[in-house]
Amino acid sequence: MQYSEKVLQHFMNPQNVGKMEHPDSTATEGSPACGDQVTIYLKVDEASKVIEDVKFLSYGCASNIATASIVTEMAKGKTLDEAKKITWRDAMEALDGLPPVKAHCSVLAADTLQTAISNYEIAHGLKEVPNFSKETIIEELKKIIYPQVGEDIITLKMVKYVGFDNGEVLIDLNIMSFDQYRENVAEEIREHLEKYPEVKNIQINFPS
Ligand code: FES
Repeated sequence: MQYSEKVLQHFMNPQNVGKMEHPDSTATEGSPACGDQVTIYLKVDEASKVIEDVKFLSYGCASNIATASIVTEMAKGKTLDEAKKITWRDAMEALDGLPPVKAHCSVLAADTLQTAISNYEIAHGLKEVPNFSKETIIEELKKIIYPQVGEDIITLKMVKYVGFDNGEVLIDLNIMSFDQYRENVAEEIREHLEKYPEVKNIQINFPS
């Protein structure tokens, strides 16, 4: 697999790696695509809301270590509001790209950073625990990468319909039966949504 020089640098010499004692916030997320995990710890100045320190532990692949390294570098010294704008696309760009089948590794790193920020804000009364809604489902679908091209399934217009009513999730996907990734995508959607207690059933339909 072809990796950029930047990816190799961050993999061989990762920044901000290690466990943080007494963090102000932390988050651990797993990637449904591969089962790997990353933990991010934050130290936040309460008055200025600046991320003074950030560390990570990765139980993932080279791309995950590299993206966690760059994501923590990007977040350090930023305010929470600034760091909230860091996306997996920014991480990919800063690493001069990743192979398409590895794009989901950057989603895992960026998503874990965002969860750690969100956990801080909830714990400090800066925001409410968000209500589960159709928008929550769409946000989760934006994290699911179609491996052949390394883009998310919403951007690729593979999602035709999303419905949520009384615990029932209904999703129509525009992925044909001969597509080798169809079952993987459906499985990943289930794994992303099953973690929400509000979700009782998930129905995914394909074109006949
Ligand atoms: Fe699992 Fe990269 S393959 S995080």
